[in-house]
Amino acid sequence: MPVALHVVDHPLIADSLTRVRDETTPNALFRQELSRIGTLLLAEATKGLPTHSVGVQTPLTATLGRQLDSQPVMVPVLRAGLGFLGPAQDLLPNADVGFIGVARDETTHQPKPYVNKLPESLAGRQCIVLDPMLATGGSLAHTVQLLIERGADMRIIVVCVLAAPEGIELLRSIDADIAVYTAALDERLTDTAFIWPGLGDAGDRQFGSPA
Ligand code: PRP
Repeated sequence: MPVALHVVDHPLIADSLTRVRDETTPNALFRQELSRIGTLLLAEATKGLPTHSVGVQTPLTATLGRQLDSQPVMVPVLRAGLGFLGPAQDLLPNADVGFIGVARDETTHQPKPYVNKLPESLAGRQCIVLDPMLATGGSLAHTVQLLIERGADMRIIVVCVLAAPEGIELLRSIDADIAVYTAALDERLTDTAFIWPGLGDAGDRQFGSPA
């Protein structure tokens, strides 16, 4: 199925992305810059959320405003996706949050699931998946599959910092309606499935290396 790919061109994203790529950026600054990028990407990714008209009384007069029709479901993919959860909850404080934990096997690069905490039903819900890195696409394909198993029937929005062409290709090969919002489409994957030129490991750069 075609994937709607949006490479979001914004000077503030580009500026933050440079620090996120920089290997000398310490973890604290890395998290701040990632969060900033997340806010800007999420603003773009949520542009199409449906709204309806509501009456509002200002101190001067009655007028009309708009309200979201419904609250989306945010799905950060552990661990790295946690870096987008803060900005997502700032923008949509009433959204539900489901958690998916997937670790990539270092040898096979296949996703190894370890957490699945999603709302009971996702039918009619707008799901927004948060994962800074779309490398082989295995983790995301797995996540999308879990969302569909719970009834997700709307276009699934994915927000990431970097995407690799290989990952986009994998998403195109699965039967799911997906829109990807990313700060950059990088050149390729390395032979160890790291995004090139990339930013390294987004989980480790936020939280340190696990044992
Ligand atoms: C990284 C990243 C994605 C995944 C992308 O997570 O955060 O979830 O790999 O790779 P893929 O597209 O090839 O599946 P990782 O498994 O390193 O776990 P972490 O977030 O805990 O560091």
